[in-house]
Amino acid sequence: MKRIAICPGSFDPVTLGHLDIISRASRMFDEVIVLVLSNPSKHPLFTTEERIDLLTQVTADFENVTVDTYGGLLAEYAKIRNASAIVKGLRAMSDFEYEFQMALMNKKLNPHTETIFLTTDLNNMYLSSSIVKQVAMFGGDISEFVPSKICRVVEKRLSQRGGQE
Ligand code: PNS
Repeated sequence: MKRIAICPGSFDPVTLGHLDIISRASRMFDEVIVLVLSNPSKHPLFTTEERIDLLTQVTADFENVTVDTYGGLLAEYAKIRNASAIVKGLRAMSDFEYEFQMALMNKKLNPHTETIFLTTDLNNMYLSSSIVKQVAMFGGDISEFVPSKICRVVEKRLSQRGGQE
């Protein structure tokens, strides 16, 4: 039986931190689904289609990684796809409480899927999509934080929003 993992998130936009977790998950599982979901407490700047497109570009070299989206619960999707794990990156203690709460709820909703946390790479400790967006919106260089393939597109897209919000 294939061991399937899901890497869920908002990915608004995908960063090198996300890509590191996806790449490590792809070595641990037969198949990895990068799943673009909505987080009700966030207002994404990139559309779902844009986020899928960026993720598809940066994961193109991983043979066992696909990208998908779902409008419902992560736990429900995991059940439908028969996934054995949800893989998430953990940066600092500040992530822990929120991630722990989601992991427990997902386990309650779907006891067949385990949540696995991978410790973030030291270089990505401080990295988040929000901080990358803020740097790019004000014309800063984000080349160290997002995959090179999509850097220009993300910079261009976000620089148009600089100072608007
Ligand atoms: O990258 P994020 O925003 O931290 O990821 C959070 C996300 C999108 C994984 C979470 O909000 C989520 O799972 N959304 C889908 C709806 C759902 O299942 N909510 C219940 C979580 S316990």
